[in-house]
Amino acid sequence: MSMRKYMNPHSARVFGDRVWVIPFVASLIIFITLFFSGISGLFTSPHGGEQLPFDIISFSKSDDSNEYFVESDLKRSLETNGRSEIGAPRLAYLISGTKGDSHRMMRTLSAVYHPRNQYILHLDLEAPPRERLELASSVKADPTFSEVENVRVMAQSNLVTYKGPTMIACTLQAISILLKESSEWDWFINLSASDYPLMTQDDLLHAFSNLSRNLNFIELMQITGWKLNQRAKPIIIDPGLYLSKKSDLAWTTQRRSLPTSFKLFTGSAWVMLSRSFLEYCIWGWDNLPRTILMYYTNFVSSPEGYFHTVICNNEEFRHTAVSHDLHYIAWDSPPKQHPISLSMKDFDKMVKSNAPFARKFARDDPVLDKIDKELLGRKSRFAPGAWCIGNPEGGADPCSVRGNDSVFRPGPGAVRFQELLQTLLSEDFQKKQCT
Ligand SMILES: *[C@@H]1O[C@H](CO)[C@@H](O)[C@H](O)[C@H]1NC(C)=O
Ligand SMILES: *[C@@H]1O[C@H](CO)[C@@H](O)[C@H](O)[C@H]1NC(C)=O
Ligand SMILES: *[C@@H]1O[C@H](CO)[C@@H](O)[C@H](O)[C@H]1NC(C)=O
Repeated sequence: MSMRKYMNPHSARVFGDRVWVIPFVASLIIFITLFFSGISGLFTSPHGGEQLPFDIISFSKSDDSNEYFVESDLKRSLETNGRSEIGAPRLAYLISGTKGDSHRMMRTLSAVYHPRNQYILHLDLEAPPRERLELASSVKADPTFSEVENVRVMAQSNLVTYKGPTMIACTLQAISILLKESSEWDWFINLSASDYPLMTQDDLLHAFSNLSRNLNFIELMQITGWKLNQRAKPIIIDPGLYLSKKSDLAWTTQRRSLPTSFKLFTGSAWVMLSRSFLEYCIWGWDNLPRTILMYYTNFVSSPEGYFHTVICNNEEFRHTAVSHDLHYIAWDSPPKQHPISLSMKDFDKMVKSNAPFARKFARDDPVLDKIDKELLGRKSRFAPGAWCIGNPEGGADPCSVRGNDSVFRPGPGAVRFQELLQTLLSEDFQKKQCT
């Protein structure tokens, strides 16, 4: 009866003189509920657990019971979202950086620019407001960007902690903006200011034209054995969530037990994810992406585990994961905390890797000029493609005149990338997904 205190005072007054009404109605409701659940058997779990069995709410199974639940409608609307699998694909890029990175971000942006794609730039809170303003004004001043309107600079700047959940929060925010602003892209790719492409967008878009738009490129492995204790038991706190100045992750003295309702996966923080998987993560009609996000709030190196754990614990999406991050990254042996800075001597290895991107590069390293010249054919602003139909005579920029952006001119990069894709999509490789 204490509940009545919280009820709206009006209704309390109405029933006030008939004290028996509420218990009577309550017991009637309980009776009816028990009666109907009894006959339909809805709450008897086939696994003998106390909770609703997961397969009722997941939308992977098409048994009849699914039709009673809202999730099956959501699944149907997702499937018939009207995005065609045919025709040229579109990519959505997040390029992020910190203090002093704005020039490198512009360079990476120019090297991966294509009018079909979408771009969003984020400079974190360590960068002074002046730098963010400069970045925004150089985007605005570019005649191609302002005509095509596919490059955005995030005005809101987040405090981002290396290895912390604030990094995921920032990525999710950028994805939300991209979903809201453009209904057309097929894949999301995240790059930092120290990343650079090894092939043109024409090469990439041509090679992706043939692929299922549901594939997710995300390097994966399950965390098992002693690593599980080392990675999953510590509890960290990211001060970026509540302090206004950047500081390192804080480690608590407490430890927590290992998760039993899902398995933990890890891998590279660099990903290329499908629009359908990201809608699933962002909209959150299924609770898994949100639960995992909350779990990862206190997990060290959460950007190397969040999407990985979500995708591998979902029956529908786990088969779409291709375990590769599409980057060439070189490590010392034994590996240190950060990868090696790539330079001239790594050029051949980068090319041979057949990967579309590489990291990390020091600012204006000479090897970037070599990549521009030999791999991207970048002489003026952009790495040119079939969309650049201007006359290059006298050193003019061919991309100042835009042609049809669904025509591509694939070069040697496309051949290299298709070779990589062939390996990645081979049966042997597919066996390694989410295991
Ligand atoms: C996205 O890219 C950044 C590079 O700026 C990286 O550090 C981050 O961990 C990536 N992944 C996620 C899931 O945010
Ligand atoms: C697309 O796939 C078909 C058949 O598998 C193949 O013949 C064609 O060369 C592929 N095209 C591209 C652009 O990869
Ligand atoms: C652009 O090229 C595509 C593919 O060749 C073609 O289907 C489309 O009609 C072209 N669009 C324009 C506006 O010329």
